Order: sequence, then structure tokens, then C-alpha cells
Amino acid sequence: TWTPSNIIDEQVAAIRAQVGEKEVICGLSGGVDSAVAAALVHRAVGDQLTCVFVDHGLLRSGEAEQVEQDYVAATGIKLKVVDAADRFLGALAGVTDPEQKRKIIGREFIRVFEAAAREVAAAGDVEFLVQGTLYPDVVESGGGTGTANIKSHHNVGGLPDDLKFALVEPLRTLFKDEVRALGVELGLPEEMVWRHPFPGPGLAIRIIGSVDRERLDLLRAADLIAREELTASGLDRDVWQFPVVLLADVRSVGVQGDGRSYGHPVVLRPVSSEDAMTADWSRLPYDLIGRISTRITNEVPEVNRVVLDVTSKPPGTIEWE
Ligand code: XMP
Repeated sequence: TWTPSNIIDEQVAAIRAQVGEKEVICGLSGGVDSAVAAALVHRAVGDQLTCVFVDHGLLRSGEAEQVEQDYVAATGIKLKVVDAADRFLGALAGVTDPEQKRKIIGREFIRVFEAAAREVAAAGDVEFLVQGTLYPDVVESGGGTGTANIKSHHNVGGLPDDLKFALVEPLRTLFKDEVRALGVELGLPEEMVWRHPFPGPGLAIRIIGSVDRERLDLLRAADLIAREELTASGLDRDVWQFPVVLLADVRSVGVQGDGRSYGHPVVLRPVSSEDAMTADWSRLPYDLIGRISTRITNEVPEVNRVVLDVTSKPPGTIEWE
């Protein structure tokens, strides 16, 4: 019978057989898939695993700390953190085109990960790379295996030839809900296990316009409020994703405090979906939407208007970029 602990035992044995005495490397993204995959490998081969977390500065509030502190505390995993925010923000400066943003982030990610992987590899006999590939990813990419089959947003397939690793993919037969069950069983932080899907390019594609630190801080503050209120209302698991989008180049007139303001709108984009291929806008309770709106305009003074996206996919996409 399928139980999380059976699957864990099975995978731990398989990983031990595959890896033997060699060293293993794994990139963590902050998401549940890489976190569970790494935790499994750690259970199997302990400190033969080194994880690398590239902090690109585009995560939501608290998420980098979740990886660096809570996850490490929960697992005891050996983690190398690369704070690359300056580098990513430098490369993104002034860029407004969505695909350009994605390209730049993918390119910088590969460079930073490569440098970190080289350092780890120089210290030991690294032959394996862990990937959090799920069954739907396998199906989508035609079932292929090997070094080229990499989740596209991490672009690890772009590593140079002298840094090619064999893949360890302990989640290849699993669906997302099964991965979450494994995460719970492995004792991973709750917020990580239940995290909504989040795009690799992060908040960069939720700022419509160019990306800078100030805009990121603004969006982070608004996004945190939306997440807090959704969680408090007990509706986290009814919603597939809840992007908050900053229309950074739009201003509208408002009245805040004693005077007129000329602030930015943010868009709330809660969606319900099975697989992100199609989606519907979530019918969240109006009083919840109202609380989020009031808190954002009170607590984030640069935002003077909160709007709700009521578009399904298609024709809209989930993200605005
Ligand atoms: P759209 O906006 O196309 O998004 O409806 C579908 C799903 O994909 C996620 N998404 C991305 N994930 N890199 C990623 O890793 C990306 O560049 C990217 N763009 C969109 C989105 O969050 C949703 O879950």
C-alpha cells in the first residue's frame, strides 16, 4: 500500500544504491519539490549531500530565511548560501520586457549555480545532481531522462560539459500531493510543504515595469499581507496561487491621510486550478478581499489602490508577465 513512509524507505534504498559513496549536490529554490527531494537524499546519504541556495533577491518575504534557517534546522542539511541579489538586480536594471527578464534571470542563475557547484565539486568527488522532477514534469518532457531533462526555470541543463552530473530524481513517480505528504512525514517546515507554486523568476515577473529594490520591497510588503490574510481565513488550500502584482509604472490619484496621493495600484490575482494549464479566478469572500485591501493601503503608503483580477485562464494567464 502507498504510504509516505513506504515511499521514503523505498526511495532511500534506491538513492543509496545509485549514489554509493559519491558526493551529491542539490539546488534549493525555496519550493516544496527541491526541498523534499533534498531531504530524501539527505536521509539516504547524509553529509555526502551539499545543497546550494542561490538567493536571487526575488523571493517573497521570509522565504530565504525559511530555507536558510527553518529548513536547515529541520533537516540538518549542509547548505551553501549564495547571496546574489546585487548581481541579479544589476543585470535586471531598467529591463521591462517579460521574456528578457526571464532570460536574464535564467542566465545569471546558471552562472551563479555553476560557480557554487565548482566550489563544492572541488572539495569532493561529486558525481550526482538532485532534481525535484515530478511525474507530471516527466510526462510533459516526453519521459526522457538524463542531464538535459531539467526544470526549465532553473536551467541547470545549461551547465558546461565539464560539470555534467548524473541525475538523482527521487520524485519522478510522484504527484504534488504525494510529495507534500512526504514532506510532512520528513518533518519539513509547514509553510514550505504547503507553499503555493511560485515562478522561478519570482517577483521580477510580478512587477510590471522595471525591477529595483524599492519596488521589490513594496511588492513584498503587499504580498505578505495578502498571504497572511488568506492563511488567517483558512483558505490557503482552496487557492492554487495568489499572485499580487505591482503596476509599477501606473499611478492614480487617491486621498490618503490629509492629502491627495499619487500612488501605485496592486492587483490581487487569486486563482483556482488543477494544473495551471487552465484556471479560474477564485471567488474569495468579499470581507477577506476587503481586509487585504484596507491593510495594504494602510501599511504600504506607496500603494493607494487595490484591484481584483476576475479573468479566467484562458484568456488571461495566471501571471501578468
Ligand atoms: P501562466 O502565467 O502562464 O503560468 O498562466 C502558469 C504557471 O507557471 C508559472 N510560471 C512560471 N514558472 N518560470 C516558472 O518556474 C516562469 O518563467 C514562469 N512563468 C509562469 C506560474 O506561476 C503558474 O504556476
